[in-house]
Amino acid sequence: MLVSAKDMLQKAAAGKYAVGQFNINNLEWTKAILLTAQECNSPVILGVSEGAGKYMCGYKTVAAMVSAMIDQLGITVPVALHLDHGSYEGALKCIEAGFSSVMFDGSHYPIEENISKTKELVACCAEKGISLEAEVGAIGGEEDGVVGGGEIADPAECKMIADLGVTFLAAGIGNIHGVYPENWKGLSFDTLEKIHELTGGLPLVLHGGTGIPDDMIKKAISLGVAKINVNTECQLAFAAATRKYVEAGKDQQGKGFDPRKLLAPGFEAIKETVKTKMELFGSVNKA
Ligand code: 13P
Repeated sequence: MLVSAKDMLQKAAAGKYAVGQFNINNLEWTKAILLTAQECNSPVILGVSEGAGKYMCGYKTVAAMVSAMIDQLGITVPVALHLDHGSYEGALKCIEAGFSSVMFDGSHYPIEENISKTKELVACCAEKGISLEAEVGAIGGEEDGVVGGGEIADPAECKMIADLGVTFLAAGIGNIHGVYPENWKGLSFDTLEKIHELTGGLPLVLHGGTGIPDDMIKKAISLGVAKINVNTECQLAFAAATRKYVEAGKDQQGKGFDPRKLLAPGFEAIKETVKTKMELFGSVNKA
């Protein structure tokens, strides 16, 4: 059964570890992440971008696939199905479709509009027992064609959004989606510390988990980060494993072409990546 991410993230914030959000794109990715979470006895959040939702034939298909897979695979660890960087309309669609958690990314709106839209969604989510992630200060890099400028959030604005009753908050602290540039300045821990103080223990979210050095991840967790998003690293691991398999000519062996065999090395690579991240984030055996 899908659960809201509220309990798992409150426990993580209190216990000073973080739950990973791993983005899904198809059946194989979903299965790899769910099985790894179960093997690691770790809570997990499956992230779905609006683009990935479209690719997988809509949010209802995704919710049905994930729920059935949890059942069929005998997954007992807490699993939240979460819209990643949702628009206002996308969030409403996911609430209807059976997601257990949504993110409304209003960071590109003026703060007043971010507040008013987030406020409406707080009410919708509360009615259905769904967790809600809000965002202040865009995360740098590109996410499904949306480009952010690597902003640093204003702690006072973070407090305004936190006070609306959101379940957790993503704040830009210099983090970037994808691969970090050579001249990246690192995370702004001063900003994170201020946001943590002002938002009174609300679980904080770190996007762009792929390229952040391990010591920065650990420091961020010590300052209130309880959810870390990882997407690019799984994509890179999947692509590298598939490329190696194809370049070795293994997809050409035997009679005919078996897509299940072609996808198997990438599946294993995602499992390995997710396990490494769960160990780093400290969520192993926290289910
Ligand atoms: P990465 O692709 O950098 O891991 O970031 C993922 C993310 O933050 C999704 O919201």
